[in-house]
Amino acid sequence: MKEGLPGACLAPSILSADFSRLKDEIEKVAPFSGMIHVDVMDNHFVPNLTIGPPVVASLSKATSLPLDCHLMVENPESLVKPFARAGAKLLSVHAEATVHLNRLIDSIRSEGMRPGVVLNPATPLSSVEEILEEVDFVLLMSVNPGFGGQSFIEGSIRKIKRLRSMMEAGGLETKIQIDGGVCRENARQLRDAGADWLVAGSAVFSAVSSSDAARELSELING
Ligand code: DX5
Ligand code: ZN
Repeated sequence: MKEGLPGACLAPSILSADFSRLKDEIEKVAPFSGMIHVDVMDNHFVPNLTIGPPVVASLSKATSLPLDCHLMVENPESLVKPFARAGAKLLSVHAEATVHLNRLIDSIRSEGMRPGVVLNPATPLSSVEEILEEVDFVLLMSVNPGFGGQSFIEGSIRKIKRLRSMMEAGGLETKIQIDGGVCRENARQLRDAGADWLVAGSAVFSAVSSSDAARELSELING
């Protein structure tokens, strides 16, 4: 079930990129990335508004990297088909945004995408314990979602370690993705705690050279 997923990698978040030149921004970091993270915000689930399926459809023609779309929206059910048609390869949904998580995860997989479940910093791991086998990845938020450039919440390290232990106890190959405040200073610690995929927005796209920043992060992740 987990075949074909990227190994340990950097997932640059285009939230902090220059939206007027997304193709160029992605090309600069692509050699050091396993996927491109796309933050979808609806101004209801989170207090910010970003991009949707039309932009993802254009990006899917502009890069061969898998597009990893993180839905921070109310009623995520209504966006599964539009994101599949737009070319999203991975689609993650917040456990806090649905009461029918199992059905939602099934629908993402039946649309041909790889499903992930996301937890806000204050949401306990127990809320996804029963679904760990059905998802391809769990995304732990290490900031409160809505904005790039926030500080990493230190307690997230313990949460990653506990999730990794749960996966090992169950013999699961479900990937662990971390999103929020990821930077050069904590990347190695996050990998050591058990994270597979590290999302980084401002640490990549607000750097003087996004390609140098992506290369350094990727070396820390794979070193
Ligand atoms: C926050 C988003 C993140 C954001 C991370 O709600 O989900 O993906 O882009 O940005 P940094 O890496 O700057 O914390
Ligand atoms: Zn995100």
